[in-house]
Amino acid sequence: MVSHRDQIVLSADGVQLVLDLSSGAPVVRHWGSPLGDVEGHALRRMTTPPIPHSAVDVPQEPGVMRERGRAFHGRPALSGNRNRLDWAPLFQIVEHHASETETSIRLHDAEASLTIDLGYRIEPSGVVLVDLAATNDGSEPYRLEELTTWMPLPDRAAESLDFTGRWLKERQPQRRPIAVGSWVLESREGRTGHGASVVQCAMTSGAGFADGEVWALGLLWSGEHRHLIERGTDGRTAMGAGELLQSGEMVLEPGERYQAPTVAAAYSDEGLDGLSSRYHEWLRARPEHPTRVRPRPVTLNVWEAVYFDHDLERLSALVDVAAEVGVERFVLDDGWFGARRDDRAGLGDWVVSDEVWPQGLGPLIDRVTAAGMEFGLWFEGEMVNPDSDLYRAHPEWILHVPGRVPPTGRNQQVLDLTHDGAYEHVLGQVDALLSKHPISYIKWDHNRPLVDPAHHGRPAVNAQTLAIYRLFDELKSRHPGLEIESCASGGGRVDLGMAMHADRFWTSDSNDALERQEIQRYSMMAIPPEMLGTHIGPSTSHSSSRSHSLSFRAATALFGHAGIEWDITETTNAERSHLAEWAAYYKANRELLHSGRVVRVDHSDTAALVHGVVAHDRSAAIFCYAQVAAPGAVLPSPALIPGLDPDARYRVRRIEPAGRAPAMQHADPTWVDGVITTGAALATIGLRPPILHPEQAILIEIVLA
Ligand code: GLA
Repeated sequence: MVSHRDQIVLSADGVQLVLDLSSGAPVVRHWGSPLGDVEGHALRRMTTPPIPHSAVDVPQEPGVMRERGRAFHGRPALSGNRNRLDWAPLFQIVEHHASETETSIRLHDAEASLTIDLGYRIEPSGVVLVDLAATNDGSEPYRLEELTTWMPLPDRAAESLDFTGRWLKERQPQRRPIAVGSWVLESREGRTGHGASVVQCAMTSGAGFADGEVWALGLLWSGEHRHLIERGTDGRTAMGAGELLQSGEMVLEPGERYQAPTVAAAYSDEGLDGLSSRYHEWLRARPEHPTRVRPRPVTLNVWEAVYFDHDLERLSALVDVAAEVGVERFVLDDGWFGARRDDRAGLGDWVVSDEVWPQGLGPLIDRVTAAGMEFGLWFEGEMVNPDSDLYRAHPEWILHVPGRVPPTGRNQQVLDLTHDGAYEHVLGQVDALLSKHPISYIKWDHNRPLVDPAHHGRPAVNAQTLAIYRLFDELKSRHPGLEIESCASGGGRVDLGMAMHADRFWTSDSNDALERQEIQRYSMMAIPPEMLGTHIGPSTSHSSSRSHSLSFRAATALFGHAGIEWDITETTNAERSHLAEWAAYYKANRELLHSGRVVRVDHSDTAALVHGVVAHDRSAAIFCYAQVAAPGAVLPSPALIPGLDPDARYRVRRIEPAGRAPAMQHADPTWVDGVITTGAALATIGLRPPILHPEQAILIEIVLA
């Protein structure tokens, strides 16, 4: 940090944030690569705009709060009013503090009786965490409609990249030119949503995985939210992110404060991989990051193996095969509680069903632990089926607008966790099970969007979101070591806010390896692979009816927190030994897979996806070449392998822990059995792949020679 009287510079790992406080309002002068020893007044002169005709007679500098009173004509950071007054505040800095890595700035408008607290902290990874809060200093309530965190972008930010999707197809990239106007992504389904972007990126023209500059904002929030990129008619551009508040949701009583969700701002001059690397390093540096606690265990989830057919004998057989192939954690999914024999009843009654578990869960859990595995259990605590004891006793404990009952979704209503009784009910029942049994892991689902998210008629998405964070934190503090998987019909609640409270995301309900190649590629934009559940599904995918070889499914599932979701009691001996070999390979290499830099190659042929993980010291890497469609030419284009030490010599070979990928050729390329080459040659000449059948993949192992 360099702090001249009115300039604050926060720097880390090739990222610099320069804040100018000289005008009395905070102005971000720069967010990007380091500028060297430039003095504040020089930077001010370089960036203060000319005064155009037909404009106000002072240089127009919106500052962080983008107030209208600064003659700024774009979207302000704060919107609200106090009985139709105080809607156009103009904030002045009243105090600020700065250390090497962070600064806090307090702004005030005495007329509007509002205080803003701003905080910027730069992490060793270069990620800047921005906090923003508004306090009502007046004697009347202040109705806050929006408080968005904004960061300026240079004019050369020419394209936006964000991610959308749906159930079974999350995080699909969409790219578009940045033009005058706003590009707004909103999530209005009460949870993060399958179509939520996780981060929104702005990039220089043509930026790719390895090249170009990228600026991104990600919200630490699992409720409704908004991401925007706005370019004014003056040509200047900024990006913003914040909670999407319902009308009347945030009325601040005198003295009350609204804390906006933290925004994680990342900049990269090494393309999208550089951006992902910063987000991953930031999350990995947290002491509670799952890989710091222990290696990610091979997980078997029983959902696609048995669905609602819970039966001790059948599941015991699955336990035995799971242990045989090297599974380390066995997760019992939906169907063990209340009247939950299908998805029409039982949610809300978190008590083991006598009907399907006459001796309780004890015998199954004993079998799992005796086989050396951990036990995990599924919950969907924010939901209730109308056909449940809970709903019959407390129909009023659902989020709803008085006088009407929202339509069900998957036959269920949303439990109003902001109701003390409902919160205590769920906490109490889950806690009782975790206290009774050795359950070290829970998968927590959220299978429907919110329709009328109201508590006593008032909007309650904010409070409901905070309640689930509180509940997770409480369960973890009562049960040290407990891990939580966040699921919402697959990847409907993947976000940086939940990353602070959960340990793993169920990336998608699609276990189809072809879909997963894409879904995982982009889910890793900000979430590190060790937090993304990646399972080997059945030979024929239940969600797409596509059939894939075990080698393709296994190569795809290797790059994440790996597991199996398949009735492996039906497997052949050959399949079991492949699964065992794959699990052993994962265990031997998970340290690299879960700590290295994620590399996604800008491959010349759209018929293939190339990606991998490179150790930070560049001593080793594992890559995947996935032939996602039939190549157009006889010979598939070489897979370039960037990111290794150009001067170092590496031993490179194909590995086949789950069997040979079928190919259509007379002979393999000769490198597959082993070649010694340099990092430079791998990055510039690459490796000519075998002529694989479509929807097949090979793994490439690279170690120092
Ligand atoms: C959701 C999840 C699945 C499974 C089912 C159980 O769809 O995404 O993985 O847990 O619920 O009902």
